[in-house]
Amino acid sequence: HIEPFLIIGNWKMNGDRELLQRFSNDIEVTAPNGCKQIICPPSVLVTTACDAFADHSIDVGGQDCSQHLSGAFTGDLSPNMLVEAGARWVILGHSERRSSYSETSEEVAEKTAAAIKAGLTPIICIGESATDREASMHLEVIVDQLEASTPETLQAGEAAIAYEPVWAIGSGVSASEDQVREAHDVIAKWLIQRRVPLPVLYGGSVKATSAASLSAIQNVDGFLIGGASLDPESFNTIGANVA
Ligand code: G3H
Repeated sequence: HIEPFLIIGNWKMNGDRELLQRFSNDIEVTAPNGCKQIICPPSVLVTTACDAFADHSIDVGGQDCSQHLSGAFTGDLSPNMLVEAGARWVILGHSERRSSYSETSEEVAEKTAAAIKAGLTPIICIGESATDREASMHLEVIVDQLEASTPETLQAGEAAIAYEPVWAIGSGVSASEDQVREAHDVIAKWLIQRRVPLPVLYGGSVKATSAASLSAIQNVDGFLIGGASLDPESFNTIGANVA
């Protein structure tokens, strides 16, 4: 693994001040197993989350940001605004944004460059659809997305990649160990060829029960967790179960 093992909770459009309070009360001040824990709540809760985790080793991140720094972009948030709110990370190109808001890999690359410039560490999401996999196109799709979603200027350690097969997200069943190994090996090889070693996270129905076996796979350097990140106990147990 690239250390530390990253445990990132993507709350999506869920959570409130009360949930942040519960996390702050119930989660150990120091992350289990030397992991790095990061919570990405809805953007209006970023500042509250930073306050709630002031005594914890937990970092806070956003779930998206604009590629622009300011201007007439109603509803958008610039990376600088996230930084000012206390975020250190930002999820970019999540499959829900790619599918529901037609975000392209080229936009994700622009957002990535802007986020890095602002001082954030982007978590760049890629992953094939069920149709891609059925057509045995998954590895090609992954490499194409990786190529197009990462800016030319990207340097080692400046971002993380999250491999999230779309069909495994929210399904309750993660990809199999062989499927995860195959995809992560291809991504790691591509990163080595480009001389930009970055941690590669797996996402898609990660649970406390699957954390040990998935984390034991070579080239799995962390998890991006949706549903199971909404409960402090399961979020913490995932870290505790990392191999
Ligand atoms: O960003 C997180 C992923 O979409 C995974 O969500 O753990 O609920 O499957 P999930």
